Amino acid sequence: MEERDPHREWPSSVAVIGAGTMGLGVAECFAAAGIRVLLTDATPELTREAKQQLARRARGHAEAGLLSQEVVGRAEAVETADNVPGAVEDADLVFEAVPEDIELKEEILGSCSEVAPEDAVIVSNTSSLPIKDLAEFVERPSRFCGMHWFNPPEWTPGVEVIPAAATSPEVVGRLVEFLRSIGKRPAVVGDGPGFVANRLQNALFLEAVRCVEEGLASPQEVDEVVRSCFGFRLPFFGPFQISDMAGLDVYENVLDVLKEGLGERFTAPESLRKLVEEGRTGTKSGAGFLEYTNEERERLLLERDRRYAALGELLEDLPPVDVGKDTS
Ligand SMILES: NC(=O)c1ccc[n+]([C@@H]2O[C@H](COP(=O)([O-])OP(=O)(O)OC[C@H]3O[C@@H](n4cnc5c(N)ncnc54)[C@H](O)[C@@H]3O)[C@@H](O)[C@H]2O)c1
Repeated sequence: MEERDPHREWPSSVAVIGAGTMGLGVAECFAAAGIRVLLTDATPELTREAKQQLARRARGHAEAGLLSQEVVGRAEAVETADNVPGAVEDADLVFEAVPEDIELKEEILGSCSEVAPEDAVIVSNTSSLPIKDLAEFVERPSRFCGMHWFNPPEWTPGVEVIPAAATSPEVVGRLVEFLRSIGKRPAVVGDGPGFVANRLQNALFLEAVRCVEEGLASPQEVDEVVRSCFGFRLPFFGPFQISDMAGLDVYENVLDVLKEGLGERFTAPESLRKLVEEGRTGTKSGAGFLEYTNEERERLLLERDRRYAALGELLEDLPPVDVGKDTS
């Protein structure tokens, strides 16, 4: 987790509403970065328990060598409030992480926006509720935005930042800059169903379940294929750089076979067909979804190999955690 950045000017105080799986991890992250954190949950009792759990987790992370004692001290210094108004009254940033229930979000976001300072930014960690719907619960919605973290939030770098139509671009820029300053890797994405990450993750999940249902492989075998074949690339590259390096003509051919066997959902997209028609078949032709000079292409391929070799070594020290019995 990122240590204190003396140049960070905003936010100086964050309210975390909902101290469950996500709220606690995000609170630990903010505290580790040297930001004042006020935590609240559904009742004062639950809030007190959550604060104890936060301190226990940070100590556990330190015992495992993952955090310094200084950061443990910061996690132990997280403050609590007995209710939402008490947590947000002085906050620069309000992070809402209550359960995925639109009526509850309406109640919480409404009271946050009533009590928090007028210029406080309010974000929701919703995984799936449309940000435009949540924005309606907030007074002055130009300061409201989606901020979707991933579990475990302390260690997962990516955060989706999802503006609603009403969100001020200045607020989006400030959130992105802030997330970068605490070591996260934000991506600004549109307010479509599942945003980007859950849409992609669930497309993979559905096909994985179908492979098992069709008897092609056991859950363990599917997991092995994912993590050791194409998943091995994913810490470094996304689907566009990967397909550019493989060859878009190859992808088109494979998709045609998949469509024949598995149906319309594998139809090659028009944008892919057009690139292949134009001869933009990826790094080998100098352009695919992205464009590469000769020098960039050489660097990309060399850096790819360097990273894969390093990851191979890391996996020898930290192999996949092979636990769990196949019950299918
Ligand atoms: N769990 C995940 O992997 C994950 C990942 C990304 C986003 N999210 C989203 O984050 C949000 C929180 O999810 P979670 O997994 O942390 O849920 P959770 O159930 O672990 O935690 C929610 C917390 O909110 C508290 N709460 C309930 N009512 C409250 C109220 N009135 N005031 C204050 N606190 C209240 C609960 O007591 C609980 O501690 C959801 O919107 C979820 O979709 C979850």
